[in-house]
Amino acid sequence: MKKYKVAIVGATGMVGREFIKVLEQRDFPASSLQLLASNRSIGRKLLVKNKEIEVQETVPESFKGIDIALFSAGAEISRYFSPIAAQSGAVVVDNSSAFRMVNSVPLVVPEINPEDISRHRGIIANPNCSTIQMVVAIYPLHQVNPIKRIIATTYQAVSGTGSAAVDELTTQAKQVLDGQNTIPHVYPHQIAFNVLPEIDVFLDNGYTKEEWKMVEETKKIMHADDIAISATCARVPVYTGHSMAVNLEFSQPMSPDEARRILAQAPGVKVVDEPVISLYPQPWSVAGTDEVFVGRIRVDTSHPNGLVMWIVADNLRKGAALNTVQIAEELIEREWVHPREAANERTRAIVNSDDNPLQQRRGD
Ligand SMILES: NC(=O)c1ccc[n+]([C@@H]2O[C@H](COP(=O)([O-])OP(=O)(O)OC[C@H]3O[C@@H](n4cnc5c(N)ncnc54)[C@H](OP(=O)(O)O)[C@@H]3O)[C@@H](O)[C@H]2O)c1
Repeated sequence: MKKYKVAIVGATGMVGREFIKVLEQRDFPASSLQLLASNRSIGRKLLVKNKEIEVQETVPESFKGIDIALFSAGAEISRYFSPIAAQSGAVVVDNSSAFRMVNSVPLVVPEINPEDISRHRGIIANPNCSTIQMVVAIYPLHQVNPIKRIIATTYQAVSGTGSAAVDELTTQAKQVLDGQNTIPHVYPHQIAFNVLPEIDVFLDNGYTKEEWKMVEETKKIMHADDIAISATCARVPVYTGHSMAVNLEFSQPMSPDEARRILAQAPGVKVVDEPVISLYPQPWSVAGTDEVFVGRIRVDTSHPNGLVMWIVADNLRKGAALNTVQIAEELIEREWVHPREAANERTRAIVNSDDNPLQQRRGD
Protein backbone atom coordinates (compact mmCIF):
# COMPACT_ATOMS: atom_id res chain seq x y z
CA MET A 1 0.00 0.00 0.00
CA LYS A 2 1.29 3.45 -0.91
CA LYS A 3 2.31 5.61 2.03
CA TYR A 4 2.24 9.39 2.33
CA LYS A 5 4.42 12.07 3.90
CA VAL A 6 2.15 13.90 6.33
CA ALA A 7 2.61 17.24 8.13
CA ILE A 8 0.50 18.58 11.00
CA VAL A 9 0.46 22.37 11.46
CA GLY A 10 -0.61 23.23 15.03
CA ALA A 11 0.55 19.81 16.29
CA THR A 12 0.86 20.99 19.91
CA GLY A 13 -2.73 22.31 20.11
CA MET A 14 -5.94 20.59 21.26
CA VAL A 15 -6.88 19.61 17.73
CA GLY A 16 -3.28 18.92 16.64
CA ARG A 17 -2.74 16.38 19.43
CA GLU A 18 -6.08 14.79 18.53
CA PHE A 19 -4.85 14.54 14.89
CA ILE A 20 -1.92 12.46 16.13
CA LYS A 21 -4.23 10.17 18.14
CA VAL A 22 -6.66 9.70 15.26
CA LEU A 23 -3.88 8.98 12.73
CA GLU A 24 -2.45 6.35 15.11
CA GLN A 25 -5.82 4.79 15.94
CA ARG A 26 -6.86 4.54 12.28
CA ASP A 27 -3.44 3.30 11.16
CA PHE A 28 -3.23 6.08 8.58
CA PRO A 29 -0.78 5.14 5.79
CA ALA A 30 1.90 7.71 6.71
CA SER A 31 5.53 7.09 5.75
CA SER A 32 6.59 10.09 7.86
CA LEU A 33 4.97 12.62 10.17
CA GLN A 34 6.25 16.19 10.46
CA LEU A 35 5.02 18.03 13.58
CA LEU A 36 4.84 21.80 13.12
CA ALA A 37 3.85 24.61 15.48
CA SER A 38 5.04 28.12 16.39
CA ASN A 39 8.59 29.02 17.41
CA ARG A 40 7.40 28.72 21.04
CA SER A 41 7.37 24.93 20.61
CA ILE A 42 10.79 24.47 19.01
CA GLY A 43 12.47 21.49 20.64
CA ARG A 44 9.28 20.19 22.28
CA LYS A 45 8.77 16.46 21.72
CA LEU A 46 5.48 14.63 21.20
CA LEU A 47 4.93 10.87 21.35
CA VAL A 48 3.82 9.22 18.12
CA LYS A 49 3.46 5.42 18.17
CA ASN A 50 5.69 5.34 21.27
CA LYS A 51 8.45 7.29 19.52
CA GLU A 52 9.33 10.89 20.34
CA ILE A 53 9.13 13.32 17.42
CA GLU A 54 10.55 16.82 17.78
CA VAL A 55 8.23 19.72 16.95
CA GLN A 56 9.55 22.21 14.41
CA GLU A 57 8.70 25.81 13.66
CA THR A 58 6.35 26.28 10.70
CA VAL A 59 8.24 27.99 7.88
CA PRO A 60 7.62 28.05 4.11
CA GLU A 61 10.25 25.33 3.57
CA SER A 62 8.42 22.98 5.99
CA PHE A 63 6.24 21.63 3.18
CA LYS A 64 8.91 20.43 0.73
CA GLY A 65 8.13 16.81 -0.15
CA ILE A 66 4.94 16.70 1.96
CA ASP A 67 1.95 14.91 0.35
CA ILE A 68 -0.79 15.76 2.84
CA ALA A 69 -0.78 18.71 5.29
CA LEU A 70 -3.36 18.83 8.08
CA PHE A 71 -3.75 22.40 9.38
CA SER A 72 -5.17 23.46 12.74
CA ALA A 73 -3.38 26.58 13.94
CA GLY A 74 -6.00 29.27 13.34
CA ALA A 75 -7.20 31.12 10.25
CA GLU A 76 -4.30 33.58 9.99
CA ILE A 77 -1.72 30.78 9.87
CA SER A 78 -3.85 28.86 7.36
CA ARG A 79 -4.24 31.91 5.12
CA TYR A 80 -0.51 32.38 5.00
CA PHE A 81 0.87 28.84 4.90
CA SER A 82 -1.84 26.78 3.14
CA PRO A 83 -1.24 28.24 -0.35
CA ILE A 84 2.50 27.81 0.20
CA ALA A 85 2.00 24.17 1.21
CA ALA A 86 -0.29 23.54 -1.74
CA GLN A 87 2.17 25.15 -4.15
CA SER A 88 4.86 22.87 -2.75
CA GLY A 89 2.69 19.96 -3.92
CA ALA A 90 0.86 19.00 -0.73
CA VAL A 91 -2.90 18.68 -0.48
CA VAL A 92 -3.99 20.79 2.50
CA VAL A 93 -6.94 19.77 4.67
CA ASP A 94 -7.62 22.90 6.69
CA ASN A 95 -9.49 22.95 9.98
CA SER A 96 -9.77 26.75 10.27
CA SER A 97 -12.45 29.06 8.90
CA ALA A 98 -10.03 30.66 6.39
CA PHE A 99 -11.22 28.97 3.19
CA ARG A 100 -14.56 27.38 4.05
CA MET A 101 -16.76 29.75 2.08
CA VAL A 102 -14.34 30.23 -0.83
CA ASN A 103 -16.24 28.94 -3.88
CA SER A 104 -13.42 26.91 -5.33
CA VAL A 105 -12.56 25.20 -2.01
CA PRO A 106 -14.59 22.07 -1.20
CA LEU A 107 -16.12 22.03 2.29
CA VAL A 108 -16.50 18.39 3.19
CA VAL A 109 -18.14 16.00 5.62
CA PRO A 110 -17.30 12.55 4.20
CA GLU A 111 -20.67 11.03 5.20
CA ILE A 112 -22.42 13.70 3.09
CA ASN A 113 -20.46 15.15 0.18
CA PRO A 114 -17.23 13.14 -0.36
CA GLU A 115 -17.49 13.62 -4.11
CA ASP A 116 -16.88 17.39 -3.66
CA ILE A 117 -13.26 16.50 -2.79
CA SER A 118 -12.61 15.70 -6.47
CA ARG A 119 -12.73 19.39 -7.42
CA HIS A 120 -10.05 20.47 -4.97
CA ARG A 121 -7.23 22.70 -6.18
CA GLY A 122 -4.82 21.86 -3.41
CA ILE A 123 -6.91 23.02 -0.42
CA ILE A 124 -9.93 21.31 1.17
CA ALA A 125 -11.77 22.86 4.12
CA ASN A 126 -13.02 21.08 7.22
CA PRO A 127 -16.29 22.63 8.48
CA ASN A 128 -17.01 24.26 11.82
CA CYS A 129 -17.43 21.73 14.67
CA SER A 130 -21.12 22.45 15.39
CA THR A 131 -22.00 22.39 11.71
CA ILE A 132 -20.37 18.97 11.23
CA GLN A 133 -22.32 17.22 13.98
CA MET A 134 -25.61 18.82 12.94
CA VAL A 135 -25.35 17.90 9.25
CA VAL A 136 -24.27 14.31 9.97
CA ALA A 137 -27.51 13.88 11.96
CA ILE A 138 -29.95 15.77 9.72
CA TYR A 139 -28.75 14.97 6.18
CA PRO A 140 -30.05 11.35 6.19
CA LEU A 141 -33.51 12.71 7.12
CA HIS A 142 -33.27 15.47 4.49
CA GLN A 143 -32.61 12.87 1.78
CA VAL A 144 -35.94 11.18 2.59
CA ASN A 145 -38.02 14.26 3.38
CA PRO A 146 -36.43 17.59 2.38
CA ILE A 147 -35.89 19.97 5.29
CA LYS A 148 -37.30 23.49 4.80
CA ARG A 149 -36.24 25.19 8.03
CA ILE A 150 -33.77 24.57 10.89
CA ILE A 151 -33.64 26.26 14.30
CA ALA A 152 -30.51 25.22 16.22
CA THR A 153 -29.36 26.13 19.73
CA THR A 154 -25.89 24.94 20.74
CA TYR A 155 -24.20 24.34 24.10
CA GLN A 156 -20.50 24.31 23.17
CA ALA A 157 -17.55 23.00 25.19
CA VAL A 158 -14.52 25.13 26.04
CA SER A 159 -12.06 22.79 24.25
CA GLY A 160 -13.56 24.25 21.06
CA THR A 161 -11.66 27.43 21.88
CA GLY A 162 -8.33 25.65 22.48
CA SER A 163 -5.96 24.72 25.31
CA ALA A 164 -6.01 28.15 26.98
CA ALA A 165 -9.80 27.99 27.45
CA VAL A 166 -9.62 24.52 29.02
CA ASP A 167 -7.04 25.83 31.50
CA GLU A 168 -9.20 28.89 32.19
CA LEU A 169 -12.25 26.77 33.08
CA THR A 170 -10.19 24.66 35.51
CA THR A 171 -8.58 27.69 37.15
CA GLN A 172 -11.86 29.59 37.49
CA ALA A 173 -13.78 26.57 38.83
CA LYS A 174 -11.15 26.16 41.59
CA GLN A 175 -11.23 29.91 42.32
CA VAL A 176 -15.03 29.96 42.62
CA LEU A 177 -15.04 26.92 44.92
CA ASP A 178 -12.33 28.58 47.04
CA GLY A 179 -14.42 31.78 47.27
CA GLN A 180 -11.93 33.80 45.23
CA ASN A 181 -12.60 36.30 42.44
CA THR A 182 -12.02 35.21 38.85
CA ILE A 183 -10.39 37.26 36.09
CA PRO A 184 -11.46 36.26 32.57
CA HIS A 185 -8.70 36.15 29.93
CA VAL A 186 -9.97 33.95 27.10
CA TYR A 187 -13.69 34.80 27.25
CA PRO A 188 -15.31 38.21 27.88
CA HIS A 189 -16.81 36.90 31.17
CA GLN A 190 -16.24 34.13 33.68
CA ILE A 191 -16.99 30.74 32.08
CA ALA A 192 -16.98 28.60 35.26
CA PHE A 193 -20.57 28.01 36.49
CA ASN A 194 -21.82 30.33 33.75
CA VAL A 195 -23.22 30.31 30.17
CA LEU A 196 -22.07 32.81 27.52
CA PRO A 197 -24.27 33.40 24.44
CA GLU A 198 -21.28 34.70 22.48
CA ILE A 199 -19.01 32.56 20.29
CA ASP A 200 -16.72 34.41 17.88
CA VAL A 201 -17.40 38.05 16.98
CA PHE A 202 -20.78 39.76 16.58
CA LEU A 203 -21.86 40.62 13.03
CA ASP A 204 -23.95 43.59 11.91
CA ASN A 205 -27.08 41.39 11.68
CA GLY A 206 -26.96 40.61 15.42
CA TYR A 207 -25.79 37.02 14.97
CA THR A 208 -22.32 35.89 16.02
CA LYS A 209 -19.91 34.64 13.39
CA GLU A 210 -20.16 31.10 14.84
CA GLU A 211 -23.94 31.22 14.32
CA TRP A 212 -23.51 32.51 10.78
CA LYS A 213 -20.98 29.75 10.01
CA MET A 214 -23.72 27.22 10.83
CA VAL A 215 -26.08 28.97 8.41
CA GLU A 216 -23.66 29.26 5.48
CA GLU A 217 -21.68 26.05 5.89
CA THR A 218 -24.78 23.84 6.27
CA LYS A 219 -26.12 25.08 2.92
CA LYS A 220 -22.76 24.57 1.18
CA ILE A 221 -22.17 21.02 2.52
CA MET A 222 -25.74 19.82 1.90
CA HIS A 223 -25.98 21.64 -1.47
CA ALA A 224 -29.23 23.13 -0.16
CA ASP A 225 -29.30 26.90 -0.62
CA ASP A 226 -33.05 27.04 0.03
CA ILE A 227 -33.05 25.80 3.62
CA ALA A 228 -33.90 28.57 6.12
CA ILE A 229 -31.60 28.37 9.14
CA SER A 230 -31.32 30.28 12.40
CA ALA A 231 -28.77 29.40 15.10
CA THR A 232 -27.96 30.53 18.63
CA CYS A 233 -24.58 29.39 19.92
CA ALA A 234 -23.67 29.40 23.60
CA ARG A 235 -20.47 28.47 25.43
CA VAL A 236 -21.00 26.28 28.49
CA PRO A 237 -18.60 25.13 31.22
CA VAL A 238 -18.05 21.66 29.71
CA TYR A 239 -14.56 20.48 28.75
CA THR A 240 -15.36 18.39 25.67
CA GLY A 241 -18.51 17.61 23.67
CA HIS A 242 -20.82 20.05 21.95
CA SER A 243 -24.57 19.57 22.50
CA MET A 244 -27.40 21.09 20.46
CA ALA A 245 -31.18 21.23 20.36
CA VAL A 246 -32.38 21.23 16.74
CA ASN A 247 -35.90 21.92 15.48
CA LEU A 248 -36.51 20.71 11.93
CA GLU A 249 -39.39 21.59 9.62
CA PHE A 250 -39.76 18.99 6.85
CA SER A 251 -41.67 19.17 3.55
CA GLN A 252 -44.02 16.42 4.84
CA PRO A 253 -44.75 15.13 8.35
CA MET A 254 -42.18 12.65 9.73
CA SER A 255 -42.80 10.56 12.82
CA PRO A 256 -40.13 10.19 15.52
CA ASP A 257 -40.11 6.41 14.84
CA GLU A 258 -39.39 6.96 11.15
CA ALA A 259 -36.57 9.39 12.04
CA ARG A 260 -35.11 6.83 14.50
CA ARG A 261 -35.29 4.10 11.83
CA ILE A 262 -33.48 6.28 9.26
CA LEU A 263 -30.85 7.45 11.72
CA ALA A 264 -30.20 3.90 12.98
CA GLN A 265 -28.92 3.11 9.44
CA ALA A 266 -27.10 6.40 8.87
CA PRO A 267 -23.29 6.45 8.64
CA GLY A 268 -21.55 7.97 11.66
CA VAL A 269 -24.77 8.30 13.70
CA LYS A 270 -25.80 6.51 16.90
CA VAL A 271 -29.33 6.81 18.25
CA VAL A 272 -29.47 6.92 22.07
CA ASP A 273 -33.10 7.64 22.81
CA GLU A 274 -34.84 6.02 25.77
CA PRO A 275 -35.97 9.00 27.83
CA VAL A 276 -38.05 6.89 30.25
CA ILE A 277 -34.82 5.48 31.67
CA SER A 278 -33.04 8.86 31.30
CA LEU A 279 -31.04 7.59 28.32
CA TYR A 280 -29.99 10.39 25.98
CA PRO A 281 -26.64 11.69 24.68
CA GLN A 282 -24.51 13.74 27.06
CA PRO A 283 -21.13 15.39 26.44
CA TRP A 284 -19.48 13.65 29.41
CA SER A 285 -20.17 10.16 28.01
CA VAL A 286 -19.64 11.11 24.37
CA ALA A 287 -16.15 12.63 24.86
CA GLY A 288 -13.51 10.43 23.21
CA THR A 289 -15.94 8.72 20.80
CA ASP A 290 -16.31 9.06 17.03
CA GLU A 291 -20.05 9.03 16.34
CA VAL A 292 -22.66 11.77 16.34
CA PHE A 293 -25.21 10.82 19.01
CA VAL A 294 -28.91 11.66 18.63
CA GLY A 295 -31.69 11.42 21.21
CA ARG A 296 -34.84 13.12 22.56
CA ILE A 297 -36.39 12.71 19.08
CA ARG A 298 -39.95 13.98 19.35
CA VAL A 299 -42.71 15.78 17.49
CA ASP A 300 -42.35 19.57 17.41
CA THR A 301 -45.86 20.36 18.57
CA SER A 302 -45.57 23.91 17.20
CA HIS A 303 -45.55 22.71 13.56
CA PRO A 304 -47.36 19.85 11.72
CA ASN A 305 -44.17 18.89 9.82
CA GLY A 306 -41.79 19.45 12.73
CA LEU A 307 -39.40 17.26 14.74
CA VAL A 308 -37.05 18.20 17.59
CA MET A 309 -33.87 16.36 18.54
CA TRP A 310 -30.82 16.55 20.79
CA ILE A 311 -27.45 16.02 19.09
CA VAL A 312 -24.10 15.54 20.86
CA ALA A 313 -20.59 14.81 19.52
CA ASP A 314 -16.96 15.13 20.56
CA ASN A 315 -15.94 18.50 19.09
CA LEU A 316 -12.25 17.57 18.97
CA ARG A 317 -12.88 14.27 17.14
CA LYS A 318 -15.84 14.33 14.70
CA GLY A 319 -15.98 18.12 15.08
CA ALA A 320 -12.34 18.55 14.06
CA ALA A 321 -9.55 15.94 13.90
CA LEU A 322 -11.54 12.86 12.89
CA ASN A 323 -13.44 14.60 10.09
CA THR A 324 -10.16 16.07 8.76
CA VAL A 325 -8.45 12.66 8.76
CA GLN A 326 -11.52 11.07 7.13
CA ILE A 327 -11.22 13.66 4.33
CA ALA A 328 -7.54 12.68 3.91
CA GLU A 329 -8.57 8.99 3.81
CA GLU A 330 -11.13 9.74 1.07
CA LEU A 331 -8.42 11.57 -0.87
CA ILE A 332 -6.25 8.47 -0.75
CA GLU A 333 -9.00 5.94 -1.39
CA ARG A 334 -10.32 7.81 -4.42
CA GLU A 335 -6.78 8.55 -5.61
CA TRP A 336 -7.33 12.29 -5.51
CA VAL A 337 -3.88 13.00 -4.00
CA HIS A 338 -2.70 14.18 -7.39
CA PRO A 339 0.79 14.22 -8.83
CA ARG A 340 2.84 17.19 -7.71
CA GLU A 341 2.64 19.11 -11.02
CA ALA A 342 -1.13 18.88 -11.23
CA ALA A 343 -1.40 20.21 -7.66
CA ASN A 344 0.81 23.15 -8.59
CA GLU A 345 -1.43 23.97 -11.53
CA ARG A 346 -4.55 23.89 -9.37
CA THR A 347 -2.99 26.03 -6.66
CA ARG A 348 -1.73 28.58 -9.16
CA ALA A 349 -5.35 28.80 -10.28
CA ILE A 350 -6.59 29.47 -6.75
CA VAL A 351 -3.84 31.97 -5.96
CA ASN A 352 -4.59 33.89 -9.15
CA SER A 353 -8.38 33.68 -9.01
CA ASP A 354 -10.79 36.33 -7.73
CA ASP A 355 -11.62 34.28 -4.65
CA ASN A 356 -8.00 34.05 -3.56
CA PRO A 357 -8.40 33.65 0.21
CA LEU A 358 -5.14 35.53 0.80
CA GLN A 359 -6.99 38.65 -0.28
CA GLN A 360 -10.01 37.98 1.95
CA ARG A 361 -9.19 38.90 5.53
CA ARG A 362 -12.23 37.33 7.15
CA GLY A 363 -11.14 36.70 10.76
CA ASP A 364 -11.27 33.25 12.39
N1 LIG B 1 -10.91 22.88 19.26
C1 LIG B 1 -11.91 22.59 18.43
O1 LIG B 1 -12.90 21.91 18.78
C2 LIG B 1 -11.87 23.06 17.02
C3 LIG B 1 -12.82 22.58 16.13
C4 LIG B 1 -12.78 23.00 14.83
C5 LIG B 1 -11.83 23.90 14.45
N2 LIG B 1 -10.90 24.36 15.33
C6 LIG B 1 -9.88 25.29 14.84
O2 LIG B 1 -8.61 24.69 14.97
C7 LIG B 1 -7.62 25.71 15.20
C8 LIG B 1 -6.76 25.36 16.41
O3 LIG B 1 -7.59 25.03 17.50
P1 LIG B 1 -7.02 24.37 18.81
O4 LIG B 1 -8.22 24.13 19.63
O5 LIG B 1 -6.11 23.23 18.54
O6 LIG B 1 -6.14 25.60 19.45
P2 LIG B 1 -4.94 25.58 20.49
O7 LIG B 1 -5.06 24.45 21.44
O8 LIG B 1 -4.89 26.95 21.03
O9 LIG B 1 -3.63 25.32 19.58
C9 LIG B 1 -3.17 26.24 18.64
C10 LIG B 1 -2.08 25.61 17.81
O10 LIG B 1 -1.68 26.53 16.81
C11 LIG B 1 -0.27 26.68 16.87
N3 LIG B 1 0.18 28.00 16.45
C12 LIG B 1 -0.09 29.20 17.01
N4 LIG B 1 0.59 30.18 16.38
C13 LIG B 1 1.30 29.59 15.40
C14 LIG B 1 2.21 30.05 14.41
N5 LIG B 1 2.54 31.37 14.31
N6 LIG B 1 2.75 29.15 13.55
C15 LIG B 1 2.46 27.84 13.64
N7 LIG B 1 1.62 27.34 14.57
C16 LIG B 1 1.04 28.19 15.44
C17 LIG B 1 0.07 26.46 18.33
O11 LIG B 1 1.44 26.18 18.47
P3 LIG B 1 2.25 26.57 19.83
O12 LIG B 1 1.91 25.49 20.82
O13 LIG B 1 3.66 26.54 19.42
O14 LIG B 1 1.77 27.92 20.26
C18 LIG B 1 -0.83 25.25 18.62
O15 LIG B 1 -0.25 24.08 18.11
C19 LIG B 1 -8.42 27.00 15.30
O16 LIG B 1 -8.45 27.57 14.00
C20 LIG B 1 -9.82 26.55 15.66
O17 LIG B 1 -10.79 27.47 15.25
C21 LIG B 1 -10.89 23.95 16.61
